[in-house]
Amino acid sequence: MAIDGPAGAGKSTLARRVAARLGFVYIDTGAMYRAIALGARRRGVDWADQAALEQLAREADITLTPDHRVLLDGEDVSAAIREPEISQGASVVSAISGVRRELVLKQQRLGHSASAVMEGRDIGTVVFPDAEAKIFLDASPEVRAHRRVKDLAARGVAADFEAVHREMQERDHRDRTRPDSPLRQAPDAVYLDSSGLTETEVEQAILRIVGDRAPAAS
Ligand code: DC
Repeated sequence: MAIDGPAGAGKSTLARRVAARLGFVYIDTGAMYRAIALGARRRGVDWADQAALEQLAREADITLTPDHRVLLDGEDVSAAIREPEISQGASVVSAISGVRRELVLKQQRLGHSASAVMEGRDIGTVVFPDAEAKIFLDASPEVRAHRRVKDLAARGVAADFEAVHREMQERDHRDRTRPDSPLRQAPDAVYLDSSGLTETEVEQAILRIVGDRAPAAS
């Protein structure tokens, strides 16, 4: 099952809930791009160095644990990859075709090994174009920025709404306009705007869509 959409649309929370409900594995592909951006920063590799980043993406050992932690070469980097600077870096390195090629291969391997809810930007268009159910989860830019400020506050990080809003717009623009696998809705994906909905309402809507598309999974 594929859930794509822009940052802050609520993909992670909903993908986790739906995966738990269906007994599927949850795979956060954004965490993999974030891990590459972090790994590069730690090794002193420039985010513009395409060859070095491709090699890093090929060699990096990225593990997504069942309790939703992210390990990079065995080290728990779950918190470090959520820093705002790494969010921007992930968006930059994810525009590099060689990095995408390596991570898409890893994602396809993961998705083939178990029933999964996979969340990202290109899951329904590139990684699993034959997914049984595809959702494009969206929300207004203001709602998405508010959610992000709230998430950061919950982690003890004070953030300015205007700055978060601006950074999100920049990141979205980059994700939507890159030549390789830009963020876009697959033709057969169901569009869902979560702006005025509670998490439970979005979860119910997604489960209805899954039930319609893949009766065996409901
Ligand atoms: O979902 P996220 O915010 O954790 O993703 C971080 C960045 O990674 C995002 O700016 C775009 C990129 N990304 C991508 O290009 N393709 C994916 N399947 C997932 C994320």
